Amino acid sequence: MLHDPNRVYVFDTTLRDGEQVPGCQLTTPEKIEIARELESLGIDIIEAGFPASSPGDFQSVVEIAKAVTNPTVCALTRAHQKDIDAAAEALKYAKHPRIHTGIGSSDMHIRTKFNSTREEILERAVAAVKYAKKFVEDIEFYAEDAGRADIHYLALMVESVIAAGATVVNIPDTNGYCLPDQYGSKIRFLKENVKNIDKAIISVHCHNDLGLATANSVAGLQNGARQIEGTINGIGERAGNTSIEEVVMILKTHHDLGLHTNINTKQFYELSRMVSTQMRMPVQPNKAIVGANAFAHSSGIHQDGFLKNRENYEIIRPEDVGFPSASIVLTARSGRHALKFHLERLGYTLNKEELADAYARFLTLADSKLNIDDEDLKGLMVGQLAKVQ
Ligand code: KIV
Ligand code: ZN
Repeated sequence: MLHDPNRVYVFDTTLRDGEQVPGCQLTTPEKIEIARELESLGIDIIEAGFPASSPGDFQSVVEIAKAVTNPTVCALTRAHQKDIDAAAEALKYAKHPRIHTGIGSSDMHIRTKFNSTREEILERAVAAVKYAKKFVEDIEFYAEDAGRADIHYLALMVESVIAAGATVVNIPDTNGYCLPDQYGSKIRFLKENVKNIDKAIISVHCHNDLGLATANSVAGLQNGARQIEGTINGIGERAGNTSIEEVVMILKTHHDLGLHTNINTKQFYELSRMVSTQMRMPVQPNKAIVGANAFAHSSGIHQDGFLKNRENYEIIRPEDVGFPSASIVLTARSGRHALKFHLERLGYTLNKEELADAYARFLTLADSKLNIDDEDLKGLMVGQLAKVQ
């Protein structure tokens, strides 16, 4: 089968980078439940955990590997043989196993984390890939802190690990440091200057410290990366990881980018709620794609435009991400048009004067109450004559 150059692979690390967040730890059965949902969403690669980190994480990787069929199951390691041994062992039931090994690539990490030199780190990177390759074919290499690494050294590292057998090269912006054009240029440089780059897929793994994780990931894809790593709801270390639902919906909305994934976007909302509940991590109401207010229209001007043609204020259809429905929220900022819409939904048909009267009473009520619900509207209409049904 011919490889589709515009296909973007989606790598979910909710159960690894996401689960590192304090208070978000999951039991193995909870992880299996999420992994099954990720499979049904169409995720290509599930990073199931870091087996050498604890016996519990090891066991979760074993059970997830048994529980899913289609996605590649990936296990994280440092560039240590004992980590790689643990990952290989934990992945033995996986239908499509991948070992994700790597080491720091910025001078900051090389000197102050590893107390080492560029040459020594390069040797360790190559050795880790060669060692992992003894166990599985599919090896992803991460160049930690690539966002701050010297580009020529990074290119040398990428070329060396591909020569050693890496099938995917992950270029993490571990600290969420880069600007989108900087990160995009890094990916473009690797694409254009690493001579064996066509033998591997470039992966983007961005953190959100400056709120740029999604923008950086998209910049990476526009410049040649074909795998994107992230989490559901963007959970993860510190300010979080790239939010998968955001990147996937950007690719779907901007057809002109010419990139596509295999994700069944209609399952996003349900999965988002599941992850939020299980990880005890509320989703902020204004979160793109899955936040409670993502499809709520509350100001009079927007409501009026939306009711005339929803595309005036809706670039994504809520049903495309499994969101229950768009809502016209009634507040003191709502207009007559929105009130009429809700009253008609409840069976009340009002002429112009009656609506003006109801709207005046509605505004008085809305000034003293944050949101007006159906019961409030029915109360408002008591005594009004125009009830149809
Ligand atoms: O952010 C990062 O650099 C990581 C690597 C371990 C892939 O999570
Ligand atoms: Zn990370």
